Amino acid sequence: MKILGIETSCDETAVCIIDCEGNPSDGNFKINILGDALHSQIDLHKEFGGVVPFMAKREHAKNLIPLFIQSLKQADLFKEYSEKNPLNEDAREKLNEIFGREIEFKNNFIEFIETTNKPHSIEAIAITEGPGLEPALWMGIIFSKALSLVYDLPLIPINHMEGHIMSVLPNLNNHKIKFPAISLLISGGHTELILMRDWHSYEIIGETRDDAVGEAFDKVARMLDLPYPGGPEISRLADLHRKTKTSTQEYILPRPMINSKDFNFSFSGIKTAVLYSLKNNHENKIPKEIVAKEFEEAVTEVLVTKTLKALEEYNAETLILGGGVVSNKYLRKEFKKEIKKISGVSLLIPENKLRTDNAVMIAISAYLRIISNKNNIKSNDSLVAKGRLRLG
Ligand code: KG4
Ligand code: ZN
Repeated sequence: MKILGIETSCDETAVCIIDCEGNPSDGNFKINILGDALHSQIDLHKEFGGVVPFMAKREHAKNLIPLFIQSLKQADLFKEYSEKNPLNEDAREKLNEIFGREIEFKNNFIEFIETTNKPHSIEAIAITEGPGLEPALWMGIIFSKALSLVYDLPLIPINHMEGHIMSVLPNLNNHKIKFPAISLLISGGHTELILMRDWHSYEIIGETRDDAVGEAFDKVARMLDLPYPGGPEISRLADLHRKTKTSTQEYILPRPMINSKDFNFSFSGIKTAVLYSLKNNHENKIPKEIVAKEFEEAVTEVLVTKTLKALEEYNAETLILGGGVVSNKYLRKEFKKEIKKISGVSLLIPENKLRTDNAVMIAISAYLRIISNKNNIKSNDSLVAKGRLRLG
């Protein structure tokens, strides 16, 4: 089954076409990524030290059609008409409603539709409905509604966090996921521990009370004058220090809530501790790489400790990691080391390019909902952006 996936929840515009068969519950799930086009806005937002919502929105509107064309071409599904094939008045009217004030986006869309062929083999459109930045989500939603209208295809709304969980499926290699499973989702906007007793059964058992892990990485990086996004930079400096050990200066950061009875997190305390230590050390400056290494280790220790507690508490047989912070090499190494020590728990980690935001995870989630009859197809009118959508 071929599915078109669209993701615009933050600063990545992504459009993909995947072809799936089988069922991960039966251990015979297969996915073929036919087209996968992504544009990251990191360079644009860099100078502002974080994502600027109205700019993210404008970029999504500009890039969605070119990325869709790129994805269609990769999938060998792109065909141009030899002459224009005008849309009827009824369709134009409905498109006016869908696009609202996004006139330029609408005109580009109409131009595209009137000059290209419908990709007939695509059977459904998967779209991120939330959580995320609402103006950004909205551009993907408008685009998917318009395509659903002109191509007459079902529109399947997907929770972005479910997408991050499902991003491990291409790596399953005919294994089945054993439940209960615990997912630790760590990104720039989220830090959540989720209990899954079965497919599509989600209970958030722990989350951050303040900053998300990725956000803390980004903020500490800013304090150290490192460029945005800070995660990869901190990780690079920390690795450098582990290899070269240029200084032996002692530096210890707190591990907030590591022994609390619940599964919640708090990262703003570590961040503030870094801030104070930098302020108090004007003369005798702590080298950046020491701060980076200790910060990475403090955060990892908290995440690993609490996740292991959750695995034990719920007798989980699977641990799924998802989200951009999983790109942190040290964190992955620590999780692998600790999970090896526990018998009967498998660790699933998405491949590199599926860790950060992407459309493939959204399309896979829709496929899984279709084959489980939990596809929750939405009509064009009822689909709206849900910035604070929660799993479960
Ligand atoms: O999942 P993602 O791409 O976007 C969100 O949905 O937020 O995650 C982005 C976050 C950023 O905060 C970035 O600093 C962090 O993931 N990140 C890392 C690393 N690579 C990306 N954090 C720590 N270490 C890394 N190597
Ligand atoms: Zn994400």
